[in-house]
Amino acid sequence: MDSHDSSELPEIIPTHIAIIMDGNGRWALARGLPRLAGHRAGTENLRRVIEACIEFGIRYLTIYAFSTENWGRPKEEVEGLMDIFEDVIDQELQELSDQGVQLRHIGRLDQLEPVFRDKVLHALDFTKNNQRLILNVAFNYGGRDEIICAIQHMIKDGVTSDAVTADLVNQYLFTAGVPDPDMIIRTSGELRGSNFLIWQGAYSEWFFPPVYWPDFDKEQLRLTLEEYGHRERRYGRLSPGAEEIDSNAC
Ligand code: FPP
Repeated sequence: MDSHDSSELPEIIPTHIAIIMDGNGRWALARGLPRLAGHRAGTENLRRVIEACIEFGIRYLTIYAFSTENWGRPKEEVEGLMDIFEDVIDQELQELSDQGVQLRHIGRLDQLEPVFRDKVLHALDFTKNNQRLILNVAFNYGGRDEIICAIQHMIKDGVTSDAVTADLVNQYLFTAGVPDPDMIIRTSGELRGSNFLIWQGAYSEWFFPPVYWPDFDKEQLRLTLEEYGHRERRYGRLSPGAEEIDSNAC
């Protein structure tokens, strides 16, 4: 099989991929189009990437759709993004569900228009029994906000200081029950974390493919997964065998 054949499965498949879908605006600008055309192209690409993840056997996909800071964008762009999210729920929910996608939300729903919030809640309920791919949509999400929210809930629950452990914090995050992301991908060449999964990503492997999100296709994903397969994850420890070499030193 040709090594560039996109039907070839990468050897090592991570359990959980998280993606910062960056570069929609620049993709549109480069084509003389309005920014919202970039977000629409990014949405179509998301559908392709979800299908590729299902095909590759990925269990969890987390996508950064709208951050707590994105409210600061021009009103027209924020409203346009909300329309896109609503359209996706209206038009794609059944198909996503048929493909076995379970939708989950991470972030705060309380600032959203009640009609939109109800649609989101319906989508979560509608897909809750699907198991093929768990799709966490980070919407009105910020990593710091998530940690603040977790601390507030712990205090409300009367958690005592000596009961606070990493495991307990995990249980209070929006991602409770979801394994930490093995890899975090940020498209477009920007080298920042932007308040995304700052607790969960402590030992994630980061990838920065130099393409705008609408151009991050199945082959790009496959190449990124291949690169992941060549990384050595050490979690702050040494490579296997390194201790032995060290103890043999004079
Ligand atoms: C970042 O690109 C992208 C966003 C803030 C929005 C991401 C949203 C989508 C891809 C829509 C699909 C999502 C769902 C859940 C239906 P940017 O606008 O910052 O690009 P730029 O850095 O080039 O300006």
